[in-house]
Amino acid sequence: MPGNKQMNKFIFDFNEKSEDYVTPVKTGIIRPNHMVRQQPLGLPQVSEVSLVRHFTNLSRKNFGVDNGFYPLGSCTMKYNPKINEKIASLKDFTEPHPLMDEDLIQGHLEMLYEMEQFLKEISGMAGITFQPSAGAHGEITGIILIKAFHNHHKDIDRKKIIVPDSSHGTNPATASIAGFEVVEIKSNPEGLVDLTELEKVLDDQVAALMLTNPNTLGLFEKHILKISKMVHDVGGLLYYDGANLNPLFGRVKIADMGFDVVHFNLHKSFSTPHGGGGPGAGPVGVNKKIMSFLPVPLIKKKDDRYTFDYNVRHSIGKMRSFYGNFNVILKSYFYILSLGLEGLRSVSEKAILNANYLKNQLSRLLELPYKNHCMHEFVLSGKTLNQWGLHTIDLAKRLIDYGYHPPTVYFPLIVDEAIMIEPTETESKETLDTFARDLERILKEAKSDPDKLKKAPHSTPVGRLDEVTAARQPIVTYDEYKDQLRTSNLEPRT
Ligand SMILES: Cc1ncc(COP(=O)(O)O)c(C=O)c1O
Repeated sequence: MPGNKQMNKFIFDFNEKSEDYVTPVKTGIIRPNHMVRQQPLGLPQVSEVSLVRHFTNLSRKNFGVDNGFYPLGSCTMKYNPKINEKIASLKDFTEPHPLMDEDLIQGHLEMLYEMEQFLKEISGMAGITFQPSAGAHGEITGIILIKAFHNHHKDIDRKKIIVPDSSHGTNPATASIAGFEVVEIKSNPEGLVDLTELEKVLDDQVAALMLTNPNTLGLFEKHILKISKMVHDVGGLLYYDGANLNPLFGRVKIADMGFDVVHFNLHKSFSTPHGGGGPGAGPVGVNKKIMSFLPVPLIKKKDDRYTFDYNVRHSIGKMRSFYGNFNVILKSYFYILSLGLEGLRSVSEKAILNANYLKNQLSRLLELPYKNHCMHEFVLSGKTLNQWGLHTIDLAKRLIDYGYHPPTVYFPLIVDEAIMIEPTETESKETLDTFARDLERILKEAKSDPDKLKKAPHSTPVGRLDEVTAARQPIVTYDEYKDQLRTSNLEPRT
């Protein structure tokens, strides 16, 4: 590959003119002289204890799956085994440069190659690219692949992408960014794709249907084979949003449901940490029809040697530098290796069991609009809170005081005052029981002291935020925070 040649040349030149370089004794790392810092860095100096206190206190203000229950629907916040972190932080994995010669990274390529085989086995797809760095990035990659496929077949009038009204916001956003017209179809009273509505919008302008199964209500699209036939019959393709793959492990293959393209959210289904914007990984799988359009490079194995393959006939090019988020893929690889097929089957079984167990408990407290057996998550409505002048958001904020990360709220959009709960397979019965008891307590408070919920959370450094401003103009330094206090009437909270 061209990159490797450049790297070899660099190493060669460097050996030739070594007086231009320094090798600090301590690290042994070789650096060009002109790039070596001449002055100390000028970092602020504090005592060790101040530093330790600062970071310890900061970490206590954060909430993660290691602190407590995090039933964030749609986002699969399962426990991330620490052994995977440890392995991924080994120097052999963190230090190699992506431009190193293939001969020096055979083990790394072998891992990517094997991970590709695992994902193919799990999904039934024919080819995988590791380049996308998140689910949404996988979606845009997949939709660009679908566009390339249609264009290649001179089918250039396919301008529409169909999404159900329960779909995740990234689906229509992706379709629109890729230049398609988004056609939304209403779900039926069971919360599933309405076949009559689908029929109405199917024509020879449809490029694809984007679907997640189980859908965002946690319900399995039981007519998926019929849906896929209907879409294929008009020449469209099926895109699988893999954010909800967790309950299908070892049970249903995505290809067998008729999907042509899929993204995997390694940071959800395959247990790599996420939140705060990454890092993530959203590999994309495709069936044989789409293989020749995949981004380059792919990994090839010949006679026990692994190489990068740039020879992909109609490749869409690159979706990201190099080969994907290597260390994230590595963590998922170990996750799969440590569980094996039986372990993965047990993950899906427990995820479904936990969700149905909790659903049955909570549906005694809050309305459950779609009553069918759920898969890994379920959606309740907080409408009952309205009688006390309260909303789902108030319940969610009060849960923080009880030590929980709030579930996803107000999504999917088709449920009024939605609360979407995904307990995941890694939670114990005790945790689920305690959560149900605490929710019941909060509902009693809602009746007796609604203000307690209205003003929640009471236990955090800041209370209710203007969430749009907080997301768009976050205050990330102490100086900024002090400035903000000066110019607003915000009170610092202890
Ligand atoms: C159903 C669904 N699709 C797509 C996405 C997007 O994935 P990511 O957050 O990795 O970009 C999410 C994430 O919340 C999701 O829940």
